Amino acid sequence: MGTNPFFDKDIVSIKDFVKDDLEYVFEATDTISSLKHSERSELGKGRALGYVFYEPSTRTRMSFEAAMASLGGSSIGIADLKSSSVEKGESLADTIRIIDLYSDVILLRHPMDGSSRFAAELSQNPIINAGSGSEEHPTQALLDMYTILREKGTIGGLSVAIVGDLKYGRTVYSLLYGLANYDVDIHLVSPTTLQVRKESIYELQGRMKIKEHSNLDEVLTEADVIYVTRIQRERFPDVQEYEKVKGSYTIDEKTLAKAKKDVAVMHPLPRLDEISQSIDHTKNAIYFKQASYGKELRAALLALMLNESLPR
Ligand code: CP
Repeated sequence: MGTNPFFDKDIVSIKDFVKDDLEYVFEATDTISSLKHSERSELGKGRALGYVFYEPSTRTRMSFEAAMASLGGSSIGIADLKSSSVEKGESLADTIRIIDLYSDVILLRHPMDGSSRFAAELSQNPIINAGSGSEEHPTQALLDMYTILREKGTIGGLSVAIVGDLKYGRTVYSLLYGLANYDVDIHLVSPTTLQVRKESIYELQGRMKIKEHSNLDEVLTEADVIYVTRIQRERFPDVQEYEKVKGSYTIDEKTLAKAKKDVAVMHPLPRLDEISQSIDHTKNAIYFKQASYGKELRAALLALMLNESLPR
C-alpha cells in the first residue's frame, strides 16, 4: 500500500473519494481483518472515538464502537440527546467543540445536509459523517461497495438495481457517487414521487449508465445486485404522502424466482416490510453479512485516520 491518504483526514462525503481511495480502503479492510489480535489492538491504543447522534442508530454507532474496541481504543459519546446538554439548548458548534477536547476522532449523525462539513470546519480532530440529512452516509457506501466486491468478486461490469426511496435515502446518494468510479449499469427503481433528485441524475449521467423505472420486474433478469432501501417516513414533509407510497416494493420468494440465480440482495438496514423475512435464509440475502463487513471496514477507516501506516 502507498502513502495513507486518510491519516488525520475527515470523511465527510464520498464525492471526495477517487477510485484509488476506494481501493485503498478495501485493501486496508482486508489487511485489518487478517491482523493478529495483538497487532490490531495496538492501532487505537490510548485513543478515543467521540460521537454524537442527533438521529437514532443501531448499526453505525455500534459497529464504530466495536471497531474502535477491536483496535484497543475506547468510545465516548452521546447516543441519547435527552441525557446531554443539547437538551438545554447547546448548539451543534459547541457540542462539537467539546467532543473535540475529549477525543481523537469524531463521529456525527445529524438531520441537516451539510452538518458534517460544518463540524469539520470547527473541529481540530477529524470528523466522520455518520449520516447527514438526506444528503450522504459515506461510510455506509464504502461498506456497501466492499460487500459487493467481496460477494461478487468485482464491482466493475455489474448491473446494480437500487430500489425504494431514492429521494430521501442518503445511502443511495453516497452509493451512487461511489459506484460512479466503476463501469456499472445502474437501474433506479422507485415510485415516481421518490425518484433520485434531478441534480444528481444530471451530475451522474455523464459518468455512468443510469435508467429509471417504476416496475421492479423490468430489471430482475438483468440485476446482479438488488440494493433495497426503506421508505424514509421521518423525512416526508406530509405523512399522507408517505401513506401513498409505503409498501411499494417487497422482495420475497416470488421476486427471487424471477431474478438471476446468484443475485445479491442488499439493504443498509433497518428494514421494515420491503424485504420479506422469508428470504433471510437464502444465499441471495446478504444484508446481515453486509452489516458485519461494516465493523471491519470501519475499523480500517479508524486505523487509517489514526495511524500514518498500517502493519503489513
Ligand atoms: N445503515 C444504518 O445507517 O443503520 P443505522 O441507522 O442503524 O445506523
